Amino acid sequence: MEFLIKNTQPATISTDCLVIPVFENSKLSDTGKALDDAAKGQLISIIKQGDIAGKPGDTLVLSQLGEIKAKRIMLFGAGELNKKLSEDDLIKSFSAVFSTLNKLNLKQVAIALADIHVAGREKTWVVRIAAQLAGTSQYEFNQLKSTKPKTTKSKYKKLTFLAPESTHKTLSQLTQEAAATIKGINVARDLGNLPGNICTPSYLAKQARQLAKKDEAKLKVTVLDEKEMEELGMGSFLSVSKGSKETGKLIVMEYYGGKKGDKPHVLVGKGITFDSGGISIKPGQGMDEMKFDMCGAASVFGALNSIIELKLPINVVGIVAAAENMPSGNASKPGDIVTSMSGQTIEILNTDAEGRLVLCDALTYAERYEPESVVDIATLTGACVVALGSHASGMYSNNDKLAKALQKASDESYDRIWHMPLWDAYQKQLDSNFADMANIGGPEAGSVTAACFLARYTKKYHWAHLDIAGTAWLKGDKKGATGRPVSLLVQYLINQSK
Ligand code: BES
Ligand code: MN
Ligand code: ZN
Repeated sequence: MEFLIKNTQPATISTDCLVIPVFENSKLSDTGKALDDAAKGQLISIIKQGDIAGKPGDTLVLSQLGEIKAKRIMLFGAGELNKKLSEDDLIKSFSAVFSTLNKLNLKQVAIALADIHVAGREKTWVVRIAAQLAGTSQYEFNQLKSTKPKTTKSKYKKLTFLAPESTHKTLSQLTQEAAATIKGINVARDLGNLPGNICTPSYLAKQARQLAKKDEAKLKVTVLDEKEMEELGMGSFLSVSKGSKETGKLIVMEYYGGKKGDKPHVLVGKGITFDSGGISIKPGQGMDEMKFDMCGAASVFGALNSIIELKLPINVVGIVAAAENMPSGNASKPGDIVTSMSGQTIEILNTDAEGRLVLCDALTYAERYEPESVVDIATLTGACVVALGSHASGMYSNNDKLAKALQKASDESYDRIWHMPLWDAYQKQLDSNFADMANIGGPEAGSVTAACFLARYTKKYHWAHLDIAGTAWLKGDKKGATGRPVSLLVQYLINQSK
């Protein structure tokens, strides 16, 4: 989607649809009143008929009125006039706006948001959220349907924000970032939504090579196969991939946008392209959703796409630990003990705790970059879904500055995370009688003990872990990948590049 910023008066802009807020009790803002003047009072009289209450989520589409140049006018509820909206109400109201707009046959749209105020937020943030929601609301995944949904309408591809001149510089920067973020989010959603029989570790490796073509001068892609991983001593990673016919891949994408000596920021993604649980097999109910167990990896691909698009002056390495977790005669068994690349030994008490097994070797591999920071992203535990539901990703870190930087990026992008404890007290749950550690920590605090496991492999650098098990995809009739936390990661890297 293309974003434009203009300071044209709403009444005089020629557009397929002009979008403006209305407030509760049939109130209009000054912008609305000016528009009503151009409509010779028709606007207010329509509102007073009571078809739109003005609450967040309400919308009403009108055809052209009076002297207003726009072909259509869409009113949307924005709560009480001169009262600040909450962030969630803003999102509720924008979601309604964009889903309604997507149903109309439009080429371009203009939206006036100057009268929308959100508690604790700059006005420019409102535009940023609108831009991102407008773009992501047009996402569809029907590449695997033989009968494509028939549509006669075209979804609009141009969105103009009407805003005062003084904000144009900031807004053009923010909307450019939003456009790149939308692309990254949609890359992540596509990869997430693809089924396990198509999106295999080899498929992900191919996508990485494809990505390198976007900017061959800046992006270097290396794919390690199982033999190379064996030479590196990645016994933990291989204990997962060996049960499957699909061979595991460690996919390394190095983006050099910064200065030569700049230490890179490393993103490590869990890329289990299907998690059956292995020999500790999962129950059948909802098992199809375990195709989403590579959404961490997908978010690394998405974020890299965005930063390439933005040409961020920063060095970033994306590492994807891609494997399929399957039961078979070759699969790891409960009780097996393996040696990780770090030299530490692991007793595999449950083959379904496989994410940490592939990630620990990828995290050891990351040491070679002497990274500025390492952030891993993983659909790691069902326990995180129990703790935080679908609203926040769990965040763990061994460094307060990194945790704060992620929290700031999360706040700006509204891709929410919650800081969880990584206390030593939890570590003893991983004790094993037979190896350096077990791969599970018992029924209590499952998301924390999974993070504690990873913490044993990340002592040499500043590290954070995002458990996205609850946020990476939606269930039910909206089942599908969300693209989270691409928005957070891109914002984090933008901030680091400044
Ligand atoms: N990929 C799952 C975690 C998961 C489960 C994410 C459900 C989203 C929804 C992970 O590999 C897993 O199976 N974890 C186990 C760990 C347990 C065996 C300690 C879990 O959470 O049950
Ligand atoms: Mn599992
Ligand atoms: Zn898993």
